Amino acid sequence: VTLQAPAAPGPAREPVTDWPDWTQLERLARAALPGPVWDFLAGGSGQESTLRANRAALERISLIPRVLRDVSGRTTTGHLVGADTAMPVAIAPVAYHRLVHPDGELASARAAARAGVPITISTLSSTPLEQVVGTGAITWFQLYWLRDRERCLALVDRAEQGGCAALMLTVDVPWMGRRLRDVRNGFALPDHVQAVHLASETAGGHYPAGPSGSTAAHESVLGRSAVATHTDLTFAPALTWADLDEIRSRTRLPLIVKGLLDADDARRAVDAGADAVVVSNHGGRQLDGALPSIEALPAIRSAIGGQAQVLLDSGIRDGIDVLRALALGADGVLIGRPLLWGLAVGGEAGAYRVLELLAAELYDGLGLAGCTDVREAQNLKTFLLHASSPSPDPDEEIP
Ligand SMILES: Cc1cc2nc3c(=O)[nH]c(=O)nc-3n(C[C@H](O)[C@H](O)[C@H](O)COP(=O)(O)O)c2cc1C
Repeated sequence: VTLQAPAAPGPAREPVTDWPDWTQLERLARAALPGPVWDFLAGGSGQESTLRANRAALERISLIPRVLRDVSGRTTTGHLVGADTAMPVAIAPVAYHRLVHPDGELASARAAARAGVPITISTLSSTPLEQVVGTGAITWFQLYWLRDRERCLALVDRAEQGGCAALMLTVDVPWMGRRLRDVRNGFALPDHVQAVHLASETAGGHYPAGPSGSTAAHESVLGRSAVATHTDLTFAPALTWADLDEIRSRTRLPLIVKGLLDADDARRAVDAGADAVVVSNHGGRQLDGALPSIEALPAIRSAIGGQAQVLLDSGIRDGIDVLRALALGADGVLIGRPLLWGLAVGGEAGAYRVLELLAAELYDGLGLAGCTDVREAQNLKTFLLHASSPSPDPDEEIP
């Protein structure tokens, strides 16, 4: 497959295992990671019903392909939050990449730069944002609202001065959802993995740190998630629309609001100056029972019209899922866990391979659906298979 994109992925520098499919990749990642780290990555909150529902909802969407439209020349290129990208995909903010590979965010960012897609760096990144920007990747900074307001706003300034291309405010984490796998595992971070952007807070005594910089996130307690304890101490549950206004006026960076499922909230975010929204249930990690984000997408698309970009995440697992999201009105998607599977298995080359695979599938899917570009994919019709269509009443006459 030759990708016809300005920053199209080329062949991987170091050959990596040619994963036959995503299931195989997921298996390899699971085998490569300690059990509790795998659980932290893979898990959702509560009974994990939203985690499962995200996949089920995507699989219920059937695409209706168009024909006789000459698809010999096509492109996967996208335009996300002011940047030209090789495909309408960005890397979702995921905390602590160094948990799964020693090269952490640097490897992911190098892969993103090579593949021509943006990477979002979490507030809980294990690598400083300046180093990530230094890889040449389009870098978005994801902000969690911290109890220490001044330090939080200082992070906004740091992202702008450090060369980030957008600020993404995550609004669905007043605290961490109850991730029962982490609770059962007494999950804690190893000492070498640190939330480096919060390091100055630890020095300031707000978040008690041990001599090696360890925090509450590093203290394993049976029957408790140390990362949840840490975020409880660090994140402020009191974020409001007024704070969004303050953040909007604080920075000239494009603002992305992540974690919306309600169309009225999305409309309000755009009225408050958001340039893009991310329809998301945090990959099933916050409110268990929340709507699959793909099901929230159409209403949010129509509420916003063309006034802001609509991105989507939670459950995107291949190029066909990207097409499904485009067909239902997304301008692009974020991927979370699959990128980390690649990183865990093969570092930079593994992360790159994930992006390359996605691009190849999207390139193929576009053509088979009768589309030559993303815009045409956004005009595809879909058919929704119902989860539990009522079984036919045997006594009812067939008309
Ligand atoms: C291990 C892990 C850590 C995450 N950390 C963050 C984070 O720091 N900030 C954030 O906004 N979202 C975070 N998320 C949520 C992702 O940005 C994204 O919404 C979700 O993973 C998308 O679903 P997917 O994994 O099914 O692609 C995290 C998700 C995972 C799996």
